[in-house]
Amino acid sequence: MILVAGGTGTLGTRIVRALATSGTPVRILTRAPSRAGHLTGPGVEVHLGDVRDPEAVAAAMKGVTAVVSAVQGFAGTDPAGAQAVDLDGNSNLVNAAIDAGARRFVLISATGAASDSPLSLRRIKFQAEQALIHSDLEWTIIRPTVYLETWIGLLGDMITAKGSVTLFGRGRNPINFVGADDVAALVAHTVGAPDLVGETLAIGGPENLTLNDVAGKLLVLQGQNERIRHVAIPVLRVVSTVLRPIKPTVATLAEFGIIMDTTDMTLPRDTARARVPGLPTTRLADLLARVKYAA
Ligand SMILES: NC(=O)c1ccc[n+]([C@@H]2O[C@H](COP(=O)([O-])OP(=O)(O)OC[C@H]3O[C@@H](n4cnc5c(N)ncnc54)[C@H](OP(=O)(O)O)[C@@H]3O)[C@@H](O)[C@H]2O)c1
Repeated sequence: MILVAGGTGTLGTRIVRALATSGTPVRILTRAPSRAGHLTGPGVEVHLGDVRDPEAVAAAMKGVTAVVSAVQGFAGTDPAGAQAVDLDGNSNLVNAAIDAGARRFVLISATGAASDSPLSLRRIKFQAEQALIHSDLEWTIIRPTVYLETWIGLLGDMITAKGSVTLFGRGRNPINFVGADDVAALVAHTVGAPDLVGETLAIGGPENLTLNDVAGKLLVLQGQNERIRHVAIPVLRVVSTVLRPIKPTVATLAEFGIIMDTTDMTLPRDTARARVPGLPTTRLADLLARVKYAA
């Protein structure tokens, strides 16, 4: 039995499907079982629980041999979400896995995870990685670039609601995007691959795209003109600093926007694809061909 924490999310949904399709029994850990409604079927269990609650996490481990953590608290409304979910929640999962004798642990981190990153999320991801590395579990860490599906969702919803897009920064920085299906295929393979124990694998996609590119294509798809507005970097810097004490969630999003617009967001070495040949390579056009918007 494999426990997938975050099994209801963009990536987690695809991991659960990939594992279930290969006949592996899966248990999804979620705060709201209704969010796993699209995943129920043979070999898939749903378990109610919050990774911030050690007792709930321990209860989810019964009969589990491997854990995949695809949780994240960064995008929620709780300003302390990343610390509580990505760090403390993952630490609860690691401790419960040790106590339950579940030896294998695959952690989804993010590219750029580092102790000295200017982005708090990446520092937190690095700390979560270190806690796992220093456990005696058989660990593998996956560091994906940015998911195409996440940004198609975010920008597409903005266009549906407003008929336009507002980007943080100039939107001209090349960013490596990866398909969540590609990452899910890697994760499903990794859980059953003893040769990948003790490795940290970075995975990206075949394209470096700017947010202007992605937004422009989505606007065309929805029959809108190229109406892209930009919030200037100096404004974002002020927002990130001044709003920190009163609106920390907005400040963190501004901080993320600055990083995405001003730092190297490409992936120089795709260590996952070098290590695991044959993974799918999803492109933006593949996903846009499947997107349907109301006329
Ligand atoms: N999106 C990206 O571009 C990107 C890029 C690089 C790395 N990543 C990493 O990839 C992983 C998956 O990201 P995603 O974008 O697929 O996430 P997502 O769609 O936002 O889903 C987040 C998941 O986390 C779960 N979760 C959040 N708080 C929880 C809590 N307190 N207790 C239990 N579960 C909780 C949610 O489950 P319920 O709501 O059902 O409880 C949900 O399944 C994360 O580790 C993320 O940091 C994402």
